Amino acid sequence: MNVAIELERVTKIYKGKKAVDDLSLKVERGTVFALLGPNGAGKTTTISMILGMKQPTSGTVKLLGGDPKDIQVRDRIGAMLQDVNVIDSLKVAETINLFRSYYTKPQSLEQLLRISGLENEKDKMASSLSGGQQRRLGFALAAAGDPDIIFLDEPTVGMDVTSRQLFWETIRAMADKGRTVVLTTHYLEEADSLADRVVVINEGKIIADGTPSQIKAETTGRVISFTAGASVTTDSLSALPGVKKVEWNGHRATLHSADTDRLITLLIERRYEMRDIEIQSGGLDDAFQALIQQKGDQ
Ligand SMILES: Nc1ncnc2c1ncn2[C@@H]1O[C@H](COP(=O)(O)OP(=O)(O)OP(=O)(O)O)[C@@H](O)[C@H]1O
Ligand SMILES: [Mg+2]
Repeated sequence: MNVAIELERVTKIYKGKKAVDDLSLKVERGTVFALLGPNGAGKTTTISMILGMKQPTSGTVKLLGGDPKDIQVRDRIGAMLQDVNVIDSLKVAETINLFRSYYTKPQSLEQLLRISGLENEKDKMASSLSGGQQRRLGFALAAAGDPDIIFLDEPTVGMDVTSRQLFWETIRAMADKGRTVVLTTHYLEEADSLADRVVVINEGKIIADGTPSQIKAETTGRVISFTAGASVTTDSLSALPGVKKVEWNGHRATLHSADTDRLITLLIERRYEMRDIEIQSGGLDDAFQALIQQKGDQ
């Protein structure tokens, strides 16, 4: 494996509390890697340590085989942090050009304005941009050096649907060029559609690691839904073996179960009044929630 990032037994303690807990991880070059987890899981802390902005309490971090603070390493990475600070006195184009000047082989200003969708804002003061536009500027700055690895911490927060779609296309194009993309997100559909590999962390520890479909499979979050006849009650459905949860939307019932094959057989055998039956695997969102809960219960 051609390793882009390597963490070995990394721990970060803030005021006696572990934000990152004995985390070991290797990220292969050329992958789109998503770090998922609830608020406070340790995502930003992990990224900050990979970038050399925070020092681990213990353990080692290697970025492109070297020290994250190494100048040759820095030239090949770009990062968009969770809080983008714009420089008040500069225009959008000036800000981008400043960042371009930090790198040996920067992308063109035009290209950066295009991928961030900021062509019409280039002469505006950076500080006058809306929240979503500032995120997009942050993305342009992260991409300024045409980096081998780009880090994006909650990149699409506050972006509208169009910006988000442009952003996703850009990420895919970067991945197609063999770049490594590391992103954190709460939008699980984002990880599902973009990432080759997803690592879920909670309380500073890895609780799942795999492709989005592997993670979905691990949690076996499948559902059966149908339009129910008047005789069908929540109590009788909840009492069926293997039913984890029953939800209603008007007359439509949705049953969550680990074994939908068995459940559908039971429903038919017991002659439940059902129309328009659908069986689906749960979305990544459900899988994610289930995972966190499951591990929390252990
Ligand atoms: N500078 C700091 N000082 C003290 N505690 C901190 C500091 N930064 C983070 N923490 C704590 O470390 C834990 C992990 O925080 P972190 O910001 O890494 O989480 P996160 O996964 O990025 O969350 P979010 O989804 O909200 O961005 C939290 O409990 C947080 O309160
Ligand atoms: Mg964070």
